[in-house]
Amino acid sequence: MGLLLGLDIGTTGVKALVIDDSGHTLGRHTVEYPLLIPKPGWAEQDPATWWTATITAIGSVLAEAGVKGADIAGIGLSGQMHSSVFLDEHDEVIRPALLWCDGRTTKQRYWITERVGGDAEMRRLVSNPPLEGFTLPKVIWLRDEEPANFRRLKTLLLPKDYVRFRLTGEKLMEVADASGTAMFDVANRVWSEELMRKVDLPMDILVPVRESVAECGRISRDVAAMTGLREGIPVAGGGGDNACGAVGTGIVREGRVLASLGTSGVVFAHTDTVKVDPDLRAHTNCHSVPNRWCLMGVMLSAGGSLRWLRDVVADSERASASQSGQDPYDVMAEEAAKAPIGSEGLVFLPYLSGERTPHRDANARGAFVGLSLRHGREHLMRCVFEGITFGMRDSLSIMRELGLHISEIRATGGGARSAFWRQMQADVYGVPVVTVNASEGPAFGAALMGGVCSGMFSDLADASDALVKIVSVSEPIPSNVSRYEEWYERYRALYPALKQEFANVATMVEKHSQ
Ligand code: XUL
Repeated sequence: MGLLLGLDIGTTGVKALVIDDSGHTLGRHTVEYPLLIPKPGWAEQDPATWWTATITAIGSVLAEAGVKGADIAGIGLSGQMHSSVFLDEHDEVIRPALLWCDGRTTKQRYWITERVGGDAEMRRLVSNPPLEGFTLPKVIWLRDEEPANFRRLKTLLLPKDYVRFRLTGEKLMEVADASGTAMFDVANRVWSEELMRKVDLPMDILVPVRESVAECGRISRDVAAMTGLREGIPVAGGGGDNACGAVGTGIVREGRVLASLGTSGVVFAHTDTVKVDPDLRAHTNCHSVPNRWCLMGVMLSAGGSLRWLRDVVADSERASASQSGQDPYDVMAEEAAKAPIGSEGLVFLPYLSGERTPHRDANARGAFVGLSLRHGREHLMRCVFEGITFGMRDSLSIMRELGLHISEIRATGGGARSAFWRQMQADVYGVPVVTVNASEGPAFGAALMGGVCSGMFSDLADASDALVKIVSVSEPIPSNVSRYEEWYERYRALYPALKQEFANVATMVEKHSQ
């Protein structure tokens, strides 16, 4: 029997998924692990916990699917992007990994930009800025702050590639995840030797990189004995979780864009050629589809803003949800639907954790602007949905500025579950918002890459097209589109007006916390 195993090494846990060649899920299993916060703004994990969780998840998913390890024909790996695994000469982990959501590297971010020759040079060499969350500033932080550890550094890996190393013995990466290191020449799909030279890092800490569908290792004998998987099963390169999530929802042709609303909000567009934002507000990465690229906008607090509203403000909605057995978010959406478009002038800025796209500003903060005595709970609820959706629209605006024609947006995550929010998205984005039959997330896309690598499918885009089908369509309503358009302009004007004050407030908060 030819089955596929997808593994997603996420921030909150490892998800293992077994599918058949028609894309049907036979089993899924998630093993969670904690996020370590040694200091405010830091975020770490011990790679060993990913490994033990992976082994447990493989055993559990095979049992749940009722299949034998020998039935698995191919494996694909997905994972949290950017997080740094530092190995020494004995391939031992030197210290816990600094994660994509760790913000300790602002000093290194600015040092790198200056050293390399400014944003224009970063753009020329790696198509991206060295943002706090990306891998390069983490390596420089290790050199600056933990020189003894840095001296031991022999190999740099990303989370899923560390798991690959333990599964197969191979130290390899693939192009999609390598793009998020800020050391990778995305346009040419190779490491940037010039950038490494400019920041005085040795090339030999970097491992060979292949395309995402290429074979990158085979299951080792030890792992076969541990898990019941067959020795020698090919493991595809895979991709970062966003690329794998995109493949798994059919974002494999130009014109299609993914709007994923989880804690963070990601807008991911497939591009046939490499497109780079001159202002570096959106990220440009290699896609997992061979020789294709993507543009990606990342909001740090999308669903996170709504969760904050639920936990801090929406007591009565939570109470009525627990009485009626509804999801609190559905009750919040019902309340929001009572207010008109534009929330009668109440505008919410969703920058609760600072913002990546479009502002690249760790000091930005959330705001309610325009509050009046007339506003009630329904306005408070609605303006948060609107502010998050406008934030996603910012990424689409950048993509359109770069000449990308967007024909269809595929919604996933919490934002896809609510009909109210899907309609709001269609009206704010100005294009049809659809949902698809694939809801397993990045592990599904990774499994499809395992399918190409093992020969079950001949082409990743064709496989994704064949298995991922549209199940609902929300068409934009023209009268709503023009009303949102006016409010979007007001939203857009607020960040520039507040930018300096956000910086001033950050300085004050820092001063008073000492
Ligand atoms: C993307 C990013 C996050 C992580 C989450 O740039 O930082 O979406 O990939 O795992």
